[in-house]
Amino acid sequence: MRILVTGASGLLGVNLASEASREHEVTGQVNALPLQGAGFEQITGDLMEDGAVEQMLDQARPDWVIHCAALADVDACEKEPDLAKQVNTLLPGRIAKACAGRAKLVYISTDAVFDGIRGGYTEEDIPNPLSIYARTKLDGEEAVLKTDPAAIVARINIFGWSIFGKRSLAEWFFYNLQAGLPVKGFTDVFITTQLTTDLAGMLLAMLAGNLSGLYHVVGADCASKYDFALQIARRMGMDGSLVSPVSVDAYGLKAARSHNLCLDATKLSRVIHKPLPQLSTGLDRFFEQYARGYPQVLRKMVDNSMENLNPYAQGGSSGN
Ligand SMILES: NC(=O)c1ccc[n+]([C@@H]2O[C@H](COP(=O)([O-])OP(=O)(O)OC[C@H]3O[C@@H](n4cnc5c(N)ncnc54)[C@H](OP(=O)(O)O)[C@@H]3O)[C@@H](O)[C@H]2O)c1
Repeated sequence: MRILVTGASGLLGVNLASEASREHEVTGQVNALPLQGAGFEQITGDLMEDGAVEQMLDQARPDWVIHCAALADVDACEKEPDLAKQVNTLLPGRIAKACAGRAKLVYISTDAVFDGIRGGYTEEDIPNPLSIYARTKLDGEEAVLKTDPAAIVARINIFGWSIFGKRSLAEWFFYNLQAGLPVKGFTDVFITTQLTTDLAGMLLAMLAGNLSGLYHVVGADCASKYDFALQIARRMGMDGSLVSPVSVDAYGLKAARSHNLCLDATKLSRVIHKPLPQLSTGLDRFFEQYARGYPQVLRKMVDNSMENLNPYAQGGSSGN
């Protein structure tokens, strides 16, 4: 298969494009930041520019487009709602239109479309986004499915290694703890998160099965962010004393956060005949990737000097 991954310098994009390129012909679309030594072809450019989407499709000629590019920083979306709408809603609609008759589309969405009051959400449950990020992503889902009902919309939550070491919660816990810094973990935010490379395997199975429509594509286990931090600390041989339990409501974040974002992915596991990845095995693999130097491989794509892998080693943030 020929697969085009947008946002290929992002947390999901770089891991997905790298995994997919083991078996498929992959092109990664990157915005301003070409990646050195990535194992896939690249197209560089801002997708918001006139004609950029069509040019990208002409160049890559994909069978599938996996659209990962987004304004994914929840608090940045509150500050720049117009940009969030442009990137998270209007761009996916334009991509769906441009893909019509030439490529199948996967739109990567988020668990945050739900208000988190109940948790355990299936694809039948009605979303109720609390933040501008979540609203614009939900509107993006609707724009895609209205234009192309055969597209896949995949609601996800991820952790893993990223090119600057700062994009995922797991990296943030890991590097702060490694630097001996205390971290705070929310006891009242629950997620069914999974390792980026596990998600890549799930998405590729969905392509192979030629699926369409809305799917929850998450891990098997619902855990609080505090428990998640503790599991990381224990794998680092620590007793967890550097991890403090806190409530998200007491934290004063700019955008409203949902409490229980655990999703039910039974629909997906039935159609792809695969069990959902477990959090403990995902974390085992996260540490295996560290042990074999995978974070360095990603960092070298943007920084050959690599003076210090740990972005928090000089004293960094210890909040969550
Ligand atoms: N991270 C999570 O835990 C999480 C959870 C749920 C859902 N998701 C969803 O998963 C997807 C991937 O998230 P992520 O965490 O990998 O995001 P990320 O690390 O912030 O990466 C986003 C990517 O989009 C690119 N991009 C942004 N604006 C662009 C533009 N105008 N033209 C071209 N590229 C542009 C960025 O490139 P530049 O940086 O060079 O601008 C970057 O490569 C998103 O759809 C997000 O909503 C993520």
